[in-house]
Amino acid sequence: MGAHKETLGFQTEVKQLLHLMIHSLYSNKEIFLRELVSNASDACDKLRFQAINNDALFENDAELKIQIGFDPQAKTITITDNGIGMNRQDAIAHLGTIAKSGTKEFFSQLSGDQQKDAALIGQFGVGFYSAFIVADEVRVRSRKAGESANQGIEWVSKGDGEFSIESIEKPQRGTEIVLHLKEGEDEILSGWKLKNIITRYSDHISLPILMKKEEWDEKTSAMKPPMTGKPLTKPTPCGHAPNQKFPKSSTPTFTKTSVLIFKSHWPTPTTA
Ligand SMILES: Nc1ncnc2c1ncn2[C@@H]1O[C@H](COP(=O)(O)OP(=O)(O)O)[C@@H](O)[C@H]1O
Ligand SMILES: [Mg+2]
Repeated sequence: MGAHKETLGFQTEVKQLLHLMIHSLYSNKEIFLRELVSNASDACDKLRFQAINNDALFENDAELKIQIGFDPQAKTITITDNGIGMNRQDAIAHLGTIAKSGTKEFFSQLSGDQQKDAALIGQFGVGFYSAFIVADEVRVRSRKAGESANQGIEWVSKGDGEFSIESIEKPQRGTEIVLHLKEGEDEILSGWKLKNIITRYSDHISLPILMKKEEWDEKTSAMKPPMTGKPLTKPTPCGHAPNQKFPKSSTPTFTKTSVLIFKSHWPTPTTA
């Protein structure tokens, strides 16, 4: 089966926006997590809504949730949801163009003031691209609810004007976004830091947001990394192969050790 890989260019507005994100929003870089969590939450809402008339879309997995993982060695942060997911057509349309009306107006309102522009970006809802503030490569693995496992897609971009998309096998419905962090962004590769950002920005999200439980390692006086499942006492050697940046299946297994860090009530209060 051919993986049907294609490389496409971003719409001009997306390129402009990416440039802006990367160069002007640096002091607000933590908003990327708010935006990706918000998209994951929207995706779950969409599934819930569509499943009202088509229960099969839940695929025997009706417990909607968002999972956040990180891997200090691979320098990745992963945001996973079991929401509606995207097929090839969806990903090309939604992650390559800005379909919204008012795009021109949005660009005309940008002031160069980082604080104001960050707020504008949030309002405009061009949130996904904010991933490129901290990531030098973004990998989106998705499979739409109700479609077969071999209709999964992997979308990859370095935020440099183009993205590639290819078919993958993805049994689990929903979307997994893997951010490979830029040099110098290691600070956010900690459970404490990520929880802190989520507390500040995603407090209103009504779905459970899960992170794997970290354990304190007496021997190294550090937290054991949560995603590898291996104790820190046997570190992987430095100088890893470049194509190891993204493990093929980067979905961490969230077992019973997962910690529920947020669960507010449904429906969401309307306060921002
Ligand atoms: N986790 C996800 N699951 C499904 N679709 C997603 C996900 N993240 C992004 N998308 C798609 O990409 C689009 C663009 O996201 P974004 O730039 O944040 O803008 P907005 O959320 O305002 O639509 C979303 O509208 C949605 O169609
Ligand atoms: Mg969004």
